[in-house]
Formats: sequence, C-alpha cells, structure tokens
Amino acid sequence: MEWVKVLHLLCVLGWMTGIFAAPRAIIFWKREYAATGQFGPTGDLTIRIYRFSLGLGVIAILSGLYLAHLWGWPTWTHAKITVVAALAAHYGWTGRLILRARKGIFTESDRWLRVYNEISVLGAIGVLILVVYKPWG
Ligand code: HEM
Repeated sequence: MEWVKVLHLLCVLGWMTGIFAAPRAIIFWKREYAATGQFGPTGDLTIRIYRFSLGLGVIAILSGLYLAHLWGWPTWTHAKITVVAALAAHYGWTGRLILRARKGIFTESDRWLRVYNEISVLGAIGVLILVVYKPWG
C-alpha cells in the first residue's frame, strides 16, 4: 500500500510543521500582546497553524497504525507508537498554552518555550531513527 505511505508522510510533514512552529509562534504572539494588549494577527496565525496541523496529525497517526497493522506489529512499531504518544502529549500541552494565550495568559518565558520546542525535535529524531533502523525486528 504505497499510497498509504505517501499519505502518511504528507500528513507527518504537516503535523511536524505545527509541532515545530507553534511554540515559536507563541513567543512572537507574547511580544505582540505585550506591545498592543490585544488579540492580533500573530495569535490568529498561531491558532490556525495549530488547528491545521492537528487534523493532519490525526491522519498521520491513523495511517501509521494502518501501516503498522500491515507490517504485523513488530516491536519497533510499539516503540514508535510510544514516542509518537509522547509527541502527541507535547502537542496537547501546546494546545493548552494556546488556549491560555487566547485569554492573555503568557506565563512561560521565551527560554522555556525554546527549550520546550527543542524537546519535540528530539522526539521527531527518535521516531525517524526507529522507522529507518527498525530495531528489534
Ligand atoms: C502512531 C503513529 C505512527 C505509526 C504506528 C507509524 C508507523 C509507520 C509504519 C508501519 C511505516 C512503514 C515503514 C516502512 O514501510 O518501511 C511508517 C513509515 C514512516 N513513518 Fe510512521 N508511524 C507513525 C507516526 C509517524 C510520525 C509521527 C512520524 C514522524 C515524526 C513518522 C515518520 C515516518 C517515516 C519518515 C516513514 C517512512 C520510512 C521509510 O519508508 O523508510 N511516522 N510509519
């Protein structure tokens, strides 16, 4: 089912864009809010990026589970699902930050948001290593 893999990769790309971009966008949103005191275009863009990639993330996970089913659930798919679950939790937390930002609550520092952003990069690297090397059969 090569076309399912194409769909999977397309949606993975879209989801990763949101995972990497949204926390950075919150930093700029925070600056905009500090300067204007109101909800502006940066907040609008951040919410749109998040919503758009959320839908793609769901398709990425569903198509990934289907591919894992075709592969007969070898051990590396279990490891991959675990790391993807961590990425999904990270993304859920970003959603919480966005909901709070929508109310004008920006408690996290720029540095915190940058480190938080890098953590998702580590998760993505972990997923890629697992799917390319397919350890433990
Ligand atoms: C529950 C979530 C996921 C599951 C169960 C899953 C499972 C799979 C499976 C079984 C394949 C086919 C491997 C092959 O044919 O060689 C695949 C391909 C791939 N997946 Fe996922 N995936 C998931 C999410 C993700 C995510 C979040 C990423 C990126 C961070 C990702 C990146 C890739 C890549 C790059 C490939 C192509 C690998 C290749 O052709 O060598 N997957 N996935």
